[in-house]
Amino acid sequence: MKDVMLQVKDLSVNYGHVEALKKINIDVKRGQITSIVGANGAGKSTLLKTISGLVKPLEGEILFEGQPIPKRAHKIVSQGIVHVPEGRRTFSGLTITDNLLVGGFLSSGKELSDNIEKQFELFPILRERKNQFAGTLSGGEQQMLAVARGLMSNPKILLLDEPSMGLAPLIVNQIYEIIQKVKDRGITVLLVEQNAKKALSICDYAYVIENGEIKLQGTGEELLNSEEVKKAYLGGK
Ligand SMILES: Nc1ncnc2c1ncn2[C@@H]1O[C@H](COP(=O)(O)OP(=O)(O)O)[C@@H](O)[C@H]1O
Ligand SMILES: [Mg+2]
Repeated sequence: MKDVMLQVKDLSVNYGHVEALKKINIDVKRGQITSIVGANGAGKSTLLKTISGLVKPLEGEILFEGQPIPKRAHKIVSQGIVHVPEGRRTFSGLTITDNLLVGGFLSSGKELSDNIEKQFELFPILRERKNQFAGTLSGGEQQMLAVARGLMSNPKILLLDEPSMGLAPLIVNQIYEIIQKVKDRGITVLLVEQNAKKALSICDYAYVIENGEIKLQGTGEELLNSEEVKKAYLGGK
């Protein structure tokens, strides 16, 4: 059943006089990958920060499974809404295993060790390097660790902020294969990207955001074939 898991209704966010989001509406269906694509400064990160409780909205509401999301960020996480922020922030002075343990703070004992094992199945490279400090990993490996750490909180929905940013095309492909596997595990994904081509290729449904407003929406395929999207986001090809 493809019901709506997360609903953003008439959401506006301001930073002082900057109107970062202007009455936007977004539905994220259960079990799907929903993408938000748009240029730098369009409001993508603000949307994810507002969903995860880091930024307060000016108006509008966010419903998760039909209920308003809690006010506090840690309560939002414990409901199963997990945000992997832009810039793949990992704890550089901690090993990979310790980074995962930090991500797994909601569980303990066997549940925790099983959970780490589950992430190592998805990211074999992290198992190989489990005792290495996160700061010594490549950009792609750090992004994988950031996603794995997010998965340690057993999300129902994973919010991914520009997972492909700054990575070589081959590594971007690996990251996208992992996003597909996250979906295959039954986790709903809300993916924001400047990399429109990749994000539209993988998603079930997408929104184009410009200057804090939703300009277009449709299936990934519809948007990939839209002349407007081709011209503005896919290099005119
Ligand atoms: N902490 C902040 N204070 C003031 N303005 C901000 C802040 N964060 C973002 N903005 C502004 O809000 C707008 C949307 O930013 P952001 O959500 O980061 O866009 P994106 O993630 O799409 O690049 C931009 O104009 C940006 O400069
Ligand atoms: Mg951003």
